[in-house]
Amino acid sequence: MNILAELKERFRRALAESAGDPTDLLELVRRAQDAKFGDYQANMAMPLGKRSGRPPRNVAVEMVRRLDLDDLCREPEIAGPGFINLRLKDEWLAGQLSAAVNDPRLGVAETAAPRTFVIDYSAPNVAKPMHVGHIRSTVIGDAICRVLRFLGHRVVSDNHIGDWGTQFGMILFGYKHFLDAAAYKSNPVEELARLYRKVRAMMDERPELNDAVLAETAKLHAGDAENRRLWEEFLPHCEDEIERVYRRLDVKFDHTLGESFYEDRLAALVERLRRQDIATESDGALCIFIEGQKTPMIVRKSDGAFLYGTTDLATLEYRMAQWRPDAILYVVDHRQSLHFKQLFAAAKMLGYDDVELQHVSFGAVLGGDGRPFKTRSGDTVGLEGLLDEAVRRALEIVSANDDAKPDGPELDPQQRRQIAETVGIAALKYADLAQNRTSDYVFSYDKMLAMTGNTATYMQYAYARARSIFARGNVDVEPLRNSGAAIRLDSPAERALGLELLRFSEALDLTAADYRPNQLTSYLFELANRYSTFFEQCHVLRAETDELRRSRLLLCDLTARTIRKGLELLGISVAEKM
Ligand code: ARG
Repeated sequence: MNILAELKERFRRALAESAGDPTDLLELVRRAQDAKFGDYQANMAMPLGKRSGRPPRNVAVEMVRRLDLDDLCREPEIAGPGFINLRLKDEWLAGQLSAAVNDPRLGVAETAAPRTFVIDYSAPNVAKPMHVGHIRSTVIGDAICRVLRFLGHRVVSDNHIGDWGTQFGMILFGYKHFLDAAAYKSNPVEELARLYRKVRAMMDERPELNDAVLAETAKLHAGDAENRRLWEEFLPHCEDEIERVYRRLDVKFDHTLGESFYEDRLAALVERLRRQDIATESDGALCIFIEGQKTPMIVRKSDGAFLYGTTDLATLEYRMAQWRPDAILYVVDHRQSLHFKQLFAAAKMLGYDDVELQHVSFGAVLGGDGRPFKTRSGDTVGLEGLLDEAVRRALEIVSANDDAKPDGPELDPQQRRQIAETVGIAALKYADLAQNRTSDYVFSYDKMLAMTGNTATYMQYAYARARSIFARGNVDVEPLRNSGAAIRLDSPAERALGLELLRFSEALDLTAADYRPNQLTSYLFELANRYSTFFEQCHVLRAETDELRRSRLLLCDLTARTIRKGLELLGISVAEKM
């Protein structure tokens, strides 16, 4: 049950008689800023009054008379110039909570209007090692997929890897001149990465090498037999390399259709664009001129080469034909925003005008100095090294916490390592997801692994603590859930927790509305905070009565399951014991 959506629906009905589209007015139904004034608040009497020239208070009074909220809310209160304050009935909240306890979806209904999404994310240029810059697209894209799927949408994830670009010219060149055959035989991935780094460094020092490297790429694209054979030999190794990272990050794709997949469609596409006068020749290049934009989108250079955008247009056509999506999301760095503006405009010109095309953009990962994150020697930071370091630090934290337990440590070294892997990777992912994606953020191990504040570590400990109550009290949770025991919300802390638990659905809808996982992290943080207040103020195992004890245990159980589910939808796992 999405409470906010339900309230809006009630207001929509009450507004139906007044003329006009109520959408804007319904945006004024919101969560109350201050619990003193109730749970939700509707502020539409002011603009309505202005429109009709009547005092807003009178408008509010009439609005309340027309509203049918009796099952949900107490009598609405009108405050100040015409704010309508709503307070949900405790019995109604308790009933919804009981339903959530017995629902594997924890009270979150599937959408009534499922859509098909194609989600394009991660998409590294393979043949070079993954670096810190690849975290964002990978984890944000994965979280969006998970949330949309859970809400009942059809999601097709497609990893549009760069497997056809200049980096292959670089390793082809390296292979031909500097190969260490024995190293290649025993560990091809590592040797290819070494060749990439070596050629790259050489190109920085001797720019005249550029042409030789470009020539290798050009030969590959022109179908040269040797380069093609080598490319086919390299590619599986490149895929192994990224697959290893994905396994550790727990990220999977439905499809991995890289740039090379579209190679043989480009010529025909460009020809069609020309015939339809969508692309025109300019200085020997073939360009799509877009209204209101200074720079055209080039689809074929004067030397006959196709570009990144050409491939993206072919990819879009393929996706439309293959999956008939209602929306395609591109989870890509904000620096590519011009590219996507052009791509989307070109798609419109090709007649794709009722698909939602979205560049889900994000900012950069910065180092402590506020500049793009680099190692001390100035290299970009390898993604695997980052994961290892986070896990190493997590192990210190997990061990210290375990050592400090009042009854002595309870984890063996193997368990500690496993938990550290879960905690370390989670910290890294969560720190990224918790940012408003459009801003840059500063990478800091200390912050991401902090035990307090909006971190995965804090959430994971909150989860483990909620679970541990059941072990400590020797409570079998299944029969309790099925017992039909009532939920009581007598104290403010219980009620606040209960209300927050029921906002899970609202938080997921907010996340999906604008493809912002930080809506979900904020929600989970708020939930964990309310849980900790509840836990400080209300005895659970030593509750005054059995009835109260059962009710509070159910609140603990629902909190733990909501945190676990929420984290799962962010691609983050929990440990039962920490
Ligand atoms: N491989 C590209 C890069 O590393 C990102 C691809 C994003 N997806 C797309 N359809 N253009 O910059």
